Amino acid sequence: MSHSAIIPQSLVWKNAFLEILDQTQLPGKETYISLYNPEEVREAILALKVRGAPAIGIAAAYGLCLVKPDQDSELDYIERLEEAYQRLSTSRPTAVNLNWALKRMMRVLETLSSDISPVRIHQALIAEAERIHEEDKRLCQLIGENGRSLIPDQAHILTHCNTGSLATGQFGTALSVIYHAHLQGKNPHVWVDETRPLLQGSRLTAWELMRAGICHTVITDSMAAWVMKKKKVDIILTGADRVTQNGDTANKIGTYALSVLAKHHGIPFYVALPSSTYDHSLSHGDDIPIEERDATEVRSTGNTLTTPVSSPVFNPAFDITPGRFITGFITEKGVLYPPYEQSLPVLADTSEK
Ligand code: MRU
Repeated sequence: MSHSAIIPQSLVWKNAFLEILDQTQLPGKETYISLYNPEEVREAILALKVRGAPAIGIAAAYGLCLVKPDQDSELDYIERLEEAYQRLSTSRPTAVNLNWALKRMMRVLETLSSDISPVRIHQALIAEAERIHEEDKRLCQLIGENGRSLIPDQAHILTHCNTGSLATGQFGTALSVIYHAHLQGKNPHVWVDETRPLLQGSRLTAWELMRAGICHTVITDSMAAWVMKKKKVDIILTGADRVTQNGDTANKIGTYALSVLAKHHGIPFYVALPSSTYDHSLSHGDDIPIEERDATEVRSTGNTLTTPVSSPVFNPAFDITPGRFITGFITEKGVLYPPYEQSLPVLADTSEK
């Protein structure tokens, strides 16, 4: 079976609009929606219709392409682009990929001569967004190829949240490693953390693994410790939303707990990321902004209230795993080991984040 038959596309550029697979409807419904302006892209990012660090960067880049050069407006094209840039860049704070992609798009303007027409600028922006998208697909494939040797035959792998094609241009990060180990005939089995409160593990990762024919079992997050003790977990693989110079890693809430459990049980804990997720401007994780989301996400499951409506709720979407708890980082440049201040800078590009 071809890759495209089993690997979902989270987003597709259609020139006049951006088409995304609405991830809030999965696994029940495969609904594609069309986004026609940057504000619709911002709302889709906020609502997690498109989500995952690399995917929101790609979506935001295409969002700028939805500022039309020929529109009747008080503001000129560049002013409208800058306004869209501000709106998109403040949609979600934790994943650095979002601002990395937007800044890369805006740098295109600096490379063009000042008398160039809005139509030509628009064409250059579309070309840059498509490059960001294609590069991410290639980097995710390399992550999978670089990481698969870490996976023993018949391995039991535990993963958290969703790090697959849905979260990236294609293949994913941690899930790309699993997918490539599977293609090599290693026959992995995956413990899929449900990932409360929004269930990216049970709704999205299980759906992707099912389509790829990879053996898996869904558990609730609170079962992970017991599974490590009583069943077999050979390796833990997660993705990342932002990694700092010392290896501190922001990822979906619950990742930190897994890293502590991995240390206690002596299980290798690897994080997979493309270079667009590395933030060379931060020395440690304390400076990473952590998104807090609406209390309703914790208060209810679907439309059913699971908490008294006036109980206070704390809902951080991410946590920080200390670099010292991470065995290694699987990247497009190879697997990087401590000391991270020395190994991670290979991921730094000249682009400011
Ligand atoms: O809130 P989400 O669903 O966007 O969070 C996503 C994650 O935390 C992923 O693990 C991370 O982005 C890695 S994606 C390849």
